[in-house]
Amino acid sequence: MPIEFDAKMLDTAVNATLRAIEDGKNQVFEIAESARKEEQAMREDALGIQRQVAETIREVERLERAYTLARHKLVEVSRDFDRHSESEIKQAYDDAHKVQTQVLVTREREQQLRARRDDLDRRLRNLEQTIARAEALITQLGVAFSYLSGDLSQIGNVLKNVEQRRFLGIRVIQAQEEERKRVAREIHDGPAQTMANVVLRAEICEKMLDRDVEKVRSELRELKDSVRASLSEVRQIIFDLRPMALDDLGLAPTLRRYMADFQDKYKIATELKVFGREKRFNNSLEVAVFRSIQEALNNIWKHAKASTATVRLELTEKQVNVHIEDNGIGFDVSEATSGPEGGHFGLLGIKERIQLLEGRLEIKSNRGKGTKVILSLPITDE
Ligand SMILES: Nc1ncnc2c1ncn2[C@@H]1O[C@H](COP(=O)(O)OP(=O)(O)O)[C@@H](O)[C@H]1O
Ligand SMILES: [Mg+2]
Repeated sequence: MPIEFDAKMLDTAVNATLRAIEDGKNQVFEIAESARKEEQAMREDALGIQRQVAETIREVERLERAYTLARHKLVEVSRDFDRHSESEIKQAYDDAHKVQTQVLVTREREQQLRARRDDLDRRLRNLEQTIARAEALITQLGVAFSYLSGDLSQIGNVLKNVEQRRFLGIRVIQAQEEERKRVAREIHDGPAQTMANVVLRAEICEKMLDRDVEKVRSELRELKDSVRASLSEVRQIIFDLRPMALDDLGLAPTLRRYMADFQDKYKIATELKVFGREKRFNNSLEVAVFRSIQEALNNIWKHAKASTATVRLELTEKQVNVHIEDNGIGFDVSEATSGPEGGHFGLLGIKERIQLLEGRLEIKSNRGKGTKVILSLPITDE
């Protein structure tokens, strides 16, 4: 079993991945954004605390100086007991004690503030790392995103082409097989049978030669007629297989001849209109145009119940446009071209030929309103 490329599924997968990356990117973006905001707030906090730390340090220094003074004062009053009243001494003692307590409290506060500042610094550094990582991630996701959406989203198309070409390859082989089957059947039913008949009749002639010359003469005449008919059948088969006139004369003259034959044979009034300068095109284009018209005309004969068939051939510098129209019963195009079921290869075959040459095919038909087959093929140099 060959691996099936499901281009649509691949596209879906790539698109889902792209969406996930985009979502992820947005989320990381939000994380980075709120981290940045938090960082901002934290920096402001840190500044405030730093200010407080500085103030507290100054306060501690001031208090320490005050404490030194208070202590000196206390030493002084306690040294000179006589000159200072008891209440003065007590006051000095209380003052010193109060300042000492203030120093302790303020130092404690300084410690706490420093600790908070250190903690904030640590958290700030963490936050900075988070932001840096988020930004790197956003860049990486951006790269992944553009890689996927730029290069890989094309892969669906590439694979679709591969798949289409593979499908087309198989269909071309199928169509070739069909064609061979048709030719085999035509030779079997036509010339092969006539030849067998000719051999039989020749044997009869041989046996009757001495007895009834007149009978032999008429038998030989019939033999000649059936060989002649067979010859024209063989010519027809050869023409259908490969219109050699196409190689010798080119598109328009071959078509003219073919359509005159068609009109004689099927009693459908045909008309060929050629616009533009008649010239030779590359072989595959000539064959494709001829085969397409041949199939369209065959369909008109087989299905359309039409009385007229018109072919318009437009030859421009860049492309060949073909327009085949009948006044027949029409049909439901989407139904008839939905798939190769039921062995209807004709229109599909045209489509494949046209697609292989990168041309366009359009079939317009409505029941009761006739059919138009419109195709155009780009002219290439090869
Ligand atoms: N010019 C036409 N007028 C009416 N019906 C048509 C015409 N061309 C095609 N169809 C319809 O489309 C079907 C598919 O055509 P085609 O692919 O050539 O297969 P096939 O000729 O072997 O049936 C035909 O069976 C017929 O029903
Ligand atoms: Mg057909």
